[in-house]
Amino acid sequence: LLEHGGGVRLAAARYRIPVGDWLDLSTGINPNGWPVPPVPASIWRRLPEDDDDLTRVAADYYGTDQLLPVAGSQAAIQALPLLRPPCRVGMLAPSYNEHPHAWRWAGHEVVALAVDAIETAVDTLDVLLLCHPNNPTGARVVPATLADWRARLAARGGWLVVDEAFMDATPEQSLAAQAGTPGLVILRSLGKFFGLAGVRVGFVLAEAALRRRLQESLGPWTVNGPGRWVATQALADRAWQERARPQLHAASARLAQLLTAQGWSVSGGTALFQWCLEPEAIRLQDALARRGIWIRRFDEPASLRLGLPGDETGWQRLERVLAEICARR
Ligand SMILES: Cc1ncc(COP(=O)(O)O)c(C=O)c1O
Repeated sequence: LLEHGGGVRLAAARYRIPVGDWLDLSTGINPNGWPVPPVPASIWRRLPEDDDDLTRVAADYYGTDQLLPVAGSQAAIQALPLLRPPCRVGMLAPSYNEHPHAWRWAGHEVVALAVDAIETAVDTLDVLLLCHPNNPTGARVVPATLADWRARLAARGGWLVVDEAFMDATPEQSLAAQAGTPGLVILRSLGKFFGLAGVRVGFVLAEAALRRRLQESLGPWTVNGPGRWVATQALADRAWQERARPQLHAASARLAQLLTAQGWSVSGGTALFQWCLEPEAIRLQDALARRGIWIRRFDEPASLRLGLPGDETGWQRLERVLAEICARR
């Protein structure tokens, strides 16, 4: 199993600080996620129903009905590589590590690419997979370029897989409206912007034939009934979504400023996290952890990713601890 953000229990044991005392900034999950109401008792008791309101409401939210609900984008990340014979798959590095893991596990050749190298490599690939924006670097590509890459791949039976887990705060940059065009596969998640990582709901936006193959491989009831119900309510709540977007952008800008003011080199980010290239990543992660703040470290390149504090107490604590650490640099 790969390392992810969120392992605060391990950190608690390692640093001997009770779980409840940590400020966990190790993920890119919205700390003020959609407020989940009690789930009606009948929803727990019935089998999940494919013809409930979920796909209609999701079609409204994403702007396309070319979609399939899945048990988090992770379910699709694991299933997609099994739908192709061994082939050559290009993806960014660093990026979300479950992708290279799943494609390699299924016997494919994974080629690590820098953003600038994609244009020349794309015609040598069968699949190009991009987290867009990228996690952790925040890198983005203009939609016209993505459309061009998709067309070149599709002409040879290839795929452009775009993982839009962190796209909800900038929906105008999503490729969702193009879902259904040949070779385009988009992954969406309710885990980040909506802050519903535990509910395990995501979507695959793709052409009907591919969705059918995916659905057959995943089997029935892949998304549980309470998950379907909660996702339906969250996707329908436009008022909450419209409040959350500017709040997240403001919080992320505040985080970038705070880090910059303490001498950290902010190198990229999204509305839900900031990423800093930092040769002393190991020491800085450790120094924050000794003070009960858990952040995500990457070794290649040495860098740190910080998510958003959820309240003013968290912000003050982060600022205080960063100042303390930087004074000792
Ligand atoms: C880029 C990216 N894609 C997908 C996922 C998995 O999301 P889900 O909770 O929908 O499985 C993550 C989780 O960290 C992620 O960072």
